[in-house]
Amino acid sequence: MKRITLTQFLIERQRGKKLINADLRLLIETVARACKAISTRVNKGALADVLGAAGTDNVQGEAQKKLDVISNAILLEANEWGGNLAALASEEMELPHPIPTQYPRGEYLLLFDPLDGSSNIDVNISVGTIFSVLRSPQGPEATEERAFLQPGTSQVASGFAVYGPTTQLVLTVGDGTHGFTLDRETYTFVLTHPDIRIPADTQEFAINMSNMRRWEPPVRRYIDECLAGKDGPRGKDFNMRWVASMVADVYRILSRGGIFMYPRDSKNRDGRLRLMYEANPMAFVVEQAGGAATDGKQRILELAPQKLHQRVAVILGSKNEVERVTSYHAG
Ligand code: F6P
Repeated sequence: MKRITLTQFLIERQRGKKLINADLRLLIETVARACKAISTRVNKGALADVLGAAGTDNVQGEAQKKLDVISNAILLEANEWGGNLAALASEEMELPHPIPTQYPRGEYLLLFDPLDGSSNIDVNISVGTIFSVLRSPQGPEATEERAFLQPGTSQVASGFAVYGPTTQLVLTVGDGTHGFTLDRETYTFVLTHPDIRIPADTQEFAINMSNMRRWEPPVRRYIDECLAGKDGPRGKDFNMRWVASMVADVYRILSRGGIFMYPRDSKNRDGRLRLMYEANPMAFVVEQAGGAATDGKQRILELAPQKLHQRVAVILGSKNEVERVTSYHAG
């Protein structure tokens, strides 16, 4: 079977479909290259002395792991000199990162969660990198927080890498969602999962059940109905999966359907996941694969961000299930 590489795939979108320009292509390739470097570190684990705590806290007050810090540095270093970015923002950094003055500035803004699911690093479970690309707006300085505060519908590209048994890169530039596998012999990403489609129905849900006592009634109702199985109102049994790495849970949903929820609850009143680094890029990927993503009330991609590090409730995956949970909220 003839396979094409990420570069060929992107050139086709640049020259053929005219969906992206050369700068955006190079930017995506640079992010992909950084993901390869992170994948190598994750893969070496204790051999490269990259496991364990870094001894610092991030802007959210969470203890950083060594690999959080290393991954952030790899992404910054790879992206700051290419000339296609006006500024970068990372879940691990309080403020946007300006492009050093010795390098040219470009027309895009890059946001990333350098290592998602980092509680799983030390226990050899999949982790990943999530990214989102916006156009730098006219007006505010790119390094100002407000330049980044654009709704998810403004994303020109988004995606994620998952460092699992294989390293996968999932990408959308607005014409569907496509998956690439890292070939460790040629060190290239190869298109292996073109035009991913999420089945509209599912019998599998992903949620952290330990938060059940804090959920709002609509979420509780949905999960209660799933748990009631064949004898309940849904008339079918459901299965549960929770990796606690959003990248791995979303990858599974892209592969065989399912619903992922991190709802708001009485402890996390605004939800737990970050709108700009997790919810928006994942919502773009999921919608482009035929799925849906809401915060229980509204489409995630239409939310107007107020803060760079804003948290949000996330319900995404198989369309009919997401619509059901959202309708319970409306009721
Ligand atoms: O911070 C993000 C994250 O690690 C996600 O990748 C994951 O879905 C979630 O948090 C796990 O949360 P919990 O620790 O509550 O299971």
